[in-house]
Amino acid sequence: MTSFTHVDLDIDGDIATIRLNRPEKKNALSPEMHRNMHQAIDEIEARKGVKVVVVTGTGDAFCGGMDLELCFLEPFNEPERFDASNQLAVSWSRRLKFISAVTIAKVNGWCFGHGFQLAGMCDIVIAAEEATFGLSEINFGIFPGGGTMWIAAHNMGRKQALYYALTGETFTGKEAVALGMATRAVPRSELDETVDKIAQSLAKKNVHALASTKQVYESAVELDFPKSIDMELAKLYELSYLSENEWIRLGLEQFKRRAYRPGLESYKTDAGKES
Ligand code: ACO
Repeated sequence: MTSFTHVDLDIDGDIATIRLNRPEKKNALSPEMHRNMHQAIDEIEARKGVKVVVVTGTGDAFCGGMDLELCFLEPFNEPERFDASNQLAVSWSRRLKFISAVTIAKVNGWCFGHGFQLAGMCDIVIAAEEATFGLSEINFGIFPGGGTMWIAAHNMGRKQALYYALTGETFTGKEAVALGMATRAVPRSELDETVDKIAQSLAKKNVHALASTKQVYESAVELDFPKSIDMELAKLYELSYLSENEWIRLGLEQFKRRAYRPGLESYKTDAGKES
């Protein structure tokens, strides 16, 4: 495990875990933590082939959002310092949103502002039913910014995103599923085991197939149908090349021998694991 100042990174085989570790401040993101997030992402990217990145928090918070004092109040009268701290935050957000590994937010507790954005930018969100989500910016006189409104608008319905952004009311992890902010909610006592199972199952899939599934999804929501068909075909040929035709060579050859049922399970890779 690598410990940066307030962020821990553990890479175990195909699965990396980023843990925000500033529980005394509800894992609120200080400028140092923004630097730590860049360091963690640098290390994950340097270790080629990581398939899953789990992001979570220590203690009773996932992430209390930006550190309101260290990122906003203190540097506000020094425009360059203020902007630098904002740029540091949005730049790791951008990197994590477009990382090729599958990202899973394990929302263990408080989840506000930039923490709401962090959860919402992940591909999969598994929340503790008891967790608390909030767009609290209106409560101190601004709006969700730096990408957080985008996350609300692209995950929640219009009436829900506007309601929670305008009122600053919170909602639970259980409610987050119906609101579009979480994939699944489980009792907090089952959170680790649930996320572990999902991460292990993803780690058995082909690394290029996972990355291109994410890319094809992102383009499918942007493109019209004919353009999406072209994109999806082109990506299939790209995936075949990058994976050395593993889907034909192993996936469909094993199906031909009726070695597995693709509707219910994955093929075995060269190493003998399921893919
Ligand atoms: N920025 C700076 N300090 C924070 C933050 C934050 N975002 N969140 C929590 N803290 C600090 C608290 O001020 C407190 O510090 P102290 O011990 O020096 O007094 C410590 O963390 C513990 O927090 P408490 O408020 O004592 O914990 P409690 O369980 O009562 O409440 C809660 C938790 C609801 C999360 C509360 O701390 C809170 O409202 N935090 C702010 C959440 C927020 O609005 N985030 C900003 C989003 S906007 C953005 O990210 C752009």
